Amino acid sequence: MSDQATITNRKDGSVFAQAADDSILRAALRAGVGLAYECNSGGCGGCKFELLEGEIDTLWPDAPGLTERDRRRGRHLACQCRACGPITIAAPTAAEYVPLLAPRRQSAQLAMLRDITHDIREFRFVSDGPADFLPGQYAMLELPGVTGSRAYSMANTPNEQREWHFQVRRVPHGQGSHVLFDGLAVGDRIGLDGPYGMAWLRTASPRDIVCVAGGSGLAPMLSIARGAVEAGLLGKRTLHFFYGARTPRDVCGGDLLAKLGAGERIRFIPVVSLPGDDGAWRGATGYVHDQLLPQLPERLADYEFYFAGPPPMTSALQELLMVGHQVPFEQIHFDRFF
Ligand code: FES
Repeated sequence: MSDQATITNRKDGSVFAQAADDSILRAALRAGVGLAYECNSGGCGGCKFELLEGEIDTLWPDAPGLTERDRRRGRHLACQCRACGPITIAAPTAAEYVPLLAPRRQSAQLAMLRDITHDIREFRFVSDGPADFLPGQYAMLELPGVTGSRAYSMANTPNEQREWHFQVRRVPHGQGSHVLFDGLAVGDRIGLDGPYGMAWLRTASPRDIVCVAGGSGLAPMLSIARGAVEAGLLGKRTLHFFYGARTPRDVCGGDLLAKLGAGERIRFIPVVSLPGDDGAWRGATGYVHDQLLPQLPERLADYEFYFAGPPPMTSALQELLMVGHQVPFEQIHFDRFF
């Protein structure tokens, strides 16, 4: 196999090169071709394509992003395939997927870590090249001893110090979080590839902002809030920040938001699904998506929505906003991870 393979997409006539160790999806995005995608991790199925000519390697044959029907029909995932030579594919593209910042691979060094909650830790890396990304985006981390790469969202905003802050939840049996929590020390280096993702802050929107985070979905929503403050969006607008947690000790983010100095322009609304029997929790209870209607003063269709969290939460929000309240799709921003 040569170092570069040429890929032709018959759907839009684009032609781009793929390095031997890249995926078809990432090669397309690096070349400025807007191949449709969301998770970059084999889970969402958003990057399906058909192979018309040539040979490919499949990196994760059992990836859940493909159904049995997809497999029978000969569909593949662009984020989980590599071309072995020149190939021709049929893959959906759209202008909205053309990256505003082309993703690039670089090396990064762990510079600092701190605990956010009992099971979420922030890892700060300094990259060799620039920390160029849009608030709300994610990067793919190549961690020692872990096959493939893992997607983690940045919690900070682009900066000249070349810093990338990731807030990661310790996941039992999660290879990526195990290496981050137990295998890396300050000074160690990893591979970092990004930015990726479509759920970035739309600074041109005139609407009030709603962020909904669950679990370690906190990171990209914090990045959105920080970006909104830095861009001066909260002079007249309000940002409503919902955080859904299992128990009161899982609640986080309020202190970090308070430090942004936006005062009442940021409302923090924590929601706990298991408040316990001791009566200590005085805040909202239940599912976080059920709190949007009682807590938001305007019609849901009047807001710009960003959300990140577990799949049941993002599905419930999609249903509530799009089906229940006809919020236009262009006002809803999220990347699905599984
Ligand atoms: Fe490829 Fe989600 S499965 S982008």
